[in-house]
Amino acid sequence: LGLVKYFRYIIIGGGVAAGYAAREFDRQGLKPGELAIISKEAVAPYERPALSKGYLNPKGAARLPEFHVCVGSGGERLLPGWYKEKGIQLFLSTEIVKVNLGSRTLISAAGETFKYQTLIIATGSTVIRLTDFKIEGADAKNIFYLRELEDADELAESMKAKKNGKAVIVGGGYIGLEVGAAMRINNFDVSMIYPEPWCMPRLFTPAIAAFYESYYANKGIKIIKGTVAVGFNANPNGEVTGVKLNNGRVLEADIVVVGVGARSLTTLFKGQVEEEKGGIKTDKFFKTSMPGVYAVGDVAAFPIKLYNEVRRVEHVDHARKSAEQAVKAIKASETGKEIEEYDYLPYFYSRSFNLSWQFYGDNVGDTVLFGDNNPSSPKPKFGSFWIKDGKVVGAFLEGGTPEENKAMAKIARLQPRVENVDQLKKEGLAFASKI
Ligand code: FDA
Ligand code: NAD
Repeated sequence: LGLVKYFRYIIIGGGVAAGYAAREFDRQGLKPGELAIISKEAVAPYERPALSKGYLNPKGAARLPEFHVCVGSGGERLLPGWYKEKGIQLFLSTEIVKVNLGSRTLISAAGETFKYQTLIIATGSTVIRLTDFKIEGADAKNIFYLRELEDADELAESMKAKKNGKAVIVGGGYIGLEVGAAMRINNFDVSMIYPEPWCMPRLFTPAIAAFYESYYANKGIKIIKGTVAVGFNANPNGEVTGVKLNNGRVLEADIVVVGVGARSLTTLFKGQVEEEKGGIKTDKFFKTSMPGVYAVGDVAAFPIKLYNEVRRVEHVDHARKSAEQAVKAIKASETGKEIEEYDYLPYFYSRSFNLSWQFYGDNVGDTVLFGDNNPSSPKPKFGSFWIKDGKVVGAFLEGGTPEENKAMAKIARLQPRVENVDQLKKEGLAFASKI
């Protein structure tokens, strides 16, 4: 203590973006001792998407070190020893609690001081909690959120303790749909509640949602739409026993999992950098308004060239690519070189049960549904195109092969004109494959 730890580069946050940034630094050339990663989590960067999927499998569940970055994109697996070998310092279980960008200083909860020449902010997101809305009883035991490894461990532990019990999932977004399925696969009696008229309204059209809702219902999941939790009942041990709905109904529950959205972690930097759209504003190189400070992943509000708009993206593909772009830009700027500007095509995906979908582009405009969207089909395969100003701008596909998904990406990138909507509906995948 008292000593200042200086690094040429510091990454604050040790999640997906931090891991991919470290690999890119190594590729670009890094001297031992130049880079430090400071993470609140106790483990080296890993592929966060595993936590709501393989991590919760009843048999052969994924556990670290299996899913350290960069295996999620088919890359090499960076074990703790890799960082050591490269002379990259990992400060784990270390939370930064104070930041002064003007003096390039970071202070940890334990009082350590870090200084840097270049900083990459990669603090990601934190969950929105029902206690934030002061919902009665929301602090009961066995009400879980899922963001970090520790959360997943607590959930997995209680799934063992409450074997074959009743689970209520609050929220119909990514976490709700993925964890709801995982609980069902683990033989829980699962109910899902959400306020909207259909699941995943951020992305799904009513027609897309109808498929997943029926599929989940066929698996025995009870979906109650258009409702919210207004309170929780607990037993004398403080464990949750029931979820009170706004319509007066009470759902019995041994475990509650809440996924009601995330908020990007920008608090440490408030008033020190420009913000936009709930994130830290960056340029196409992920440079913030503060010299020497970059922001990547969930926290970055960056220009999407394709749509001529600043956006934030809370998905893993962007975390990986923005990290790589920022490191390339940092290294190039040191030698006065220019790199190509970022030209990101939004890409989201999810998996649950035997289902797997991918989405590319922008979900705006009119939609056209195609393919076999019968939830009882042995192998459903269907999709949707979004059409704006006569051009296809977004493409969704459930059950696609790698080649078919590639075709969907291509179509969202090239934005072909649609002459005849009826024909597009008839052709479906064939339309994408011939582009
Ligand atoms: P990320 O959250 O990965 O990392 C941030 C890190 O910073 C954390 O380790 C945190 O502890 C640390 N940190 C924060 N504040 C700190 C501080 N003050 N001091 C020190 N450390 C600090 N996306 C997708 O496209 N497909 C998918 O299937 C999934 N699945 C999925 C499942 C689950 C359970 C979650 C929670 C999220 C997903 N996502 C996803 C989203 C995806 O994981 C997410 O967009 C990326 O992890 C974002 O990467 P970042 O590096 O920006 O943040
Ligand atoms: P989300 O934004 O996807 O979904 C939030 C959902 O919460 C809404 O759709 C709504 O149904 C529901 N909701 C809002 N207020 C509610 C209330 N008071 N009561 C009940 N329901 C309410 O957020 P999430 O699912 O919590 O995911 C958190 C973060 O993790 C996001 O950044 C997400 O992108 C990321 N994530 C991504 C993936 C993926 O890409 N496959 C998977 C898991 C998590």
